[in-house]
Amino acid sequence: MTNMIKVLKGTKDILPQDIEMWHFVEENAQNIFSSYGFKEIRTPIIETTDLFSRGVGDTTDIVNKEMYTFEKSDRSITLRPENTAGVVRSYIENGMHRLSAPVKLWYKGPMFRYERPQAGRQRQFNQIGVEMFGIDKPAADAEIILTAVNFLKSIGLNNLEVEINSIGCPKCRTEYKEKLKNIIKPYLNELCEDCQARYEKNPLRLLDCKVSECQNIYAKKEIQEVILSDFLCKDCCEHYSELKNFLNKLNIKYSENKLLVRGLDYYTRTVFEIKSNNLGSQNAVCGGGRYDGLVEQLGGEHTPAIGFAMGMERLISLLPQQETKKLDAFIVSNSSLDAFLLAEELRKKGISVEIDLANKKFTKQLEKASKIAKFALILGEDEILNEKVSIKNLFTGEQISVDKKNCYNYLGS
Ligand code: HAM
Repeated sequence: MTNMIKVLKGTKDILPQDIEMWHFVEENAQNIFSSYGFKEIRTPIIETTDLFSRGVGDTTDIVNKEMYTFEKSDRSITLRPENTAGVVRSYIENGMHRLSAPVKLWYKGPMFRYERPQAGRQRQFNQIGVEMFGIDKPAADAEIILTAVNFLKSIGLNNLEVEINSIGCPKCRTEYKEKLKNIIKPYLNELCEDCQARYEKNPLRLLDCKVSECQNIYAKKEIQEVILSDFLCKDCCEHYSELKNFLNKLNIKYSENKLLVRGLDYYTRTVFEIKSNNLGSQNAVCGGGRYDGLVEQLGGEHTPAIGFAMGMERLISLLPQQETKKLDAFIVSNSSLDAFLLAEELRKKGISVEIDLANKKFTKQLEKASKIAKFALILGEDEILNEKVSIKNLFTGEQISVDKKNCYNYLGS
């Protein structure tokens, strides 16, 4: 025997027994997002590498270490590691700034990051997300967080922890970064290689480091004092407190986390994450924030924007297993032709039905029917002769004989 080929590390099949959960989550996304006025957009999975190095930021782990990049006809192409940059590209390229604001878009689909696979972390994973363009007011931030929370509730995730922070605008953040750099400078040589690079390029990202030696340094009192200091300018401060006011009035419980800086460079002002405690395990299911500079940075007109994305696999892992839906009917018959003809009639009426294709014995066919269907439709010799069908309810065992031509009337659940 030749060697079996296995699925790549960090990727997974979504099997038929799980697909209903996916449909359930996707249908809820479609319903909730469209109830807030979001329209679906589908952008390519491959984009030019530049889009992500300019969009997501070349100090991020995503761009530095995790992108699937390849050359084709002298072009550097990357499998999208996230979809905000792609949606922004499409917004600019398709002149969506001419539409009346806000432009509200949602998406779903696979993303690719070369990360160390573990529970809830894959190399190919699926996100659903929304992006809203054209509004700089805190009401937009509140509506985005509300959309996320209501979507999560709609799929049954109730134990939600919403964490928010404001990382300010480039103006006030610059001063903050300088303060951070000054206080961390004496420890520079003790930091990991990544932090040494971040120190120069984007010191805010230092706070996100997972290396324990670095974390110990950042936990020092004098450094914590700077980290936790209020650095927001007047406008950013007002924006943030108005957002909190909205969240309070909308009854959305949240906590503030000064260390929340997010792993992507495009954010300005509001950032947030949502965790769910469903089924005991804790996981960041949603991450998002405002990115008022990104459209301009990628060649468009200045356009404020905000959005979020959620990991589908993480959402699904938090939901209780659902039973696989049964077929409406299975036709039990020794006459394949009669079974075929009846099945086609029923399918035209929207009834899901299968027939025996393997010439199995009657009893075997009945056994199969009781495993996969709600009703067995028995077409024996007598029934065929008299244009009848015997319908057996496979939950109750009850059996009735009805005219073949209107048997579909009896197949309600
Ligand atoms: P992100 O925080 O990188 O943000 O990803 C959002 C969510 O995707 C995470 O909270 C997590 O649920 C899921 N996720 C991320 N990486 C993985 C992985 N390797 N395996 C499984 N799930 C994962 C973004 O992607 C931004 N584009 C969100 C955004 C939209 N910000 C503004 N608009």
